Amino acid sequence: MTLWSGRVESGLASEVWEFLKADDAELLPYDLAATRLHAGRLHAAGLLTDDELAEVAERLAAIAPEDLDPSDEDVHSAIERLLGPVGRKIHAGRSRNDQVAAAFRLYVEDACREAVDAIERFAAVVLDRAEADADTPMPGYTHLQRAQPVTVGHHLLAWAEMLERDRERFRSAAGQAAPSPLGAGALAGSTLPLPPPANRLRNSLDAVSDRDFALDYLYACTVCHSHLSRLGEELCLWATSEFGFVRLPEAAATGSSMMPQKLNPDVAELARGKAGTALGRLTGLLAVVKGLPLAYDRDLQEDKAPVFSARRDLRATLAALEVLLEEIEFDRERLAQATRDPLLLATDAAEALVLEGTPFRDAHEQVAAEIRAGTFAAPSAAPRPAPGPGGVHEALADARARWSG
Ligand code: ARG
Repeated sequence: MTLWSGRVESGLASEVWEFLKADDAELLPYDLAATRLHAGRLHAAGLLTDDELAEVAERLAAIAPEDLDPSDEDVHSAIERLLGPVGRKIHAGRSRNDQVAAAFRLYVEDACREAVDAIERFAAVVLDRAEADADTPMPGYTHLQRAQPVTVGHHLLAWAEMLERDRERFRSAAGQAAPSPLGAGALAGSTLPLPPPANRLRNSLDAVSDRDFALDYLYACTVCHSHLSRLGEELCLWATSEFGFVRLPEAAATGSSMMPQKLNPDVAELARGKAGTALGRLTGLLAVVKGLPLAYDRDLQEDKAPVFSARRDLRATLAALEVLLEEIEFDRERLAQATRDPLLLATDAAEALVLEGTPFRDAHEQVAAEIRAGTFAAPSAAPRPAPGPGGVHEALADARARWSG
C-alpha cells in the first residue's frame, strides 16, 4: 500500500514500482529523528494527544532496519506503516518532500561530524610520524626531480596542513546542512498551526528542493580524497626499490598471487583510486540537480546513493591509511644517502654568492656553468633547517595546538 493509493487505485506495473522504489534504508535513523521532531510539532499544535505522542515515541524507538519491507516505496512510507494506527495522523502538515530533506540534512550533518573525527584521528598519526622523523633529512622534489633538501617532518607537516583545511571544509558543510526544512510541506507549507522548527530554512520552495548541502559534503569528500590520493601516490613512490625511502608494513601491504617476492602498496594505490570515484560522485550529483525546476522533482531521489557511498569510502580510506602510516618504516640511511646528493645545494650555493654581493642571475649562471662542467662543489653537506622561524619543531608544536583546539 503506497502513501498515495487514495489517488492511484489500480496497481502499478511491477517494472514501474521497482523503478520508483528508493534504496534508502541507510536514512532510517535520521528519518526517525525527523519524525520525532514533527510529532512534537503536531502535539504542540494540539493535533496529537499526550498519549498519542507517547505512543509515537515508543513505536519510533522500536523501529529497526529489519522492519523495512520490499513493499515500502521508501523509508518514509515504511515509518508511517510501522507506526500503526497512530501513523495515520503523523503526516499532517508534512510531505515526504520536507521529510526527506529533513532526514537527509541530519544524515549529512552526521556524516560531516564523522569525517571531522576520522580526519583528526588520521592527522594525529601524521603528526606523530612527523615528530618521530622531524629532523630526518630527505630530498624535496619539484617536477618529481630532486630539488632542495627538506626533512621528513617538514614534508609530513605539509600533509597535516591539507588535512586541517579538509577538516574545516567538513565543519562548514555541517553548518550548511544544519537548518531545518520542516514546515515547508510539499512546497508551500500547510494551513495547520504548527510551530516552526528552530533554525528553519526561510523559503519553503528552496527548503524542499535544494541539495547544495549534499554537494558541499561531496565536494569536501572529493578534496579530502584528492589529498589522500596525493599522499597515497607519494607512499607508492617511496616504497619502490628506486626510491626505497619506506618499508611497507605487513599489516597494510599485499603480496602477489604469482610473484613470491612482491610486497605491494595496494592500500596507497586504492586511496589514490578512490579520489577518482569521489570526483565522479560530485559531478554526478551536480548533473542531476542542474536545470531542475522548483520545487521538488523525483530526480532528487538520486541524491542519496552518492552520499551514502562517499561516506563509506572516506571512512574506509582514512582507517586503512591510518594503519599504513602508523606502521610504515622510514629508511633513514637511504634518505640520508639520497640527501647527500650535492646538487640539492645548488640553490644554496647561488644564494651564498648573493650574500657576497653577486646579482642573483649572475650567481645562477655561474653555478649552472659549474654543474655543466662537472666542477660544482656543494657549500656544505648539512641539511638546511626547515624554512620559517623556529623550524620544523615549532611548526609541529603549532600544528598540535591547532589540532587539539
Ligand atoms: N523517496 C523520495 C526521495 O528520496 C521521497 C520524496 C518523494 N516525494 C514525492 N513527491 N514523490 O526523494
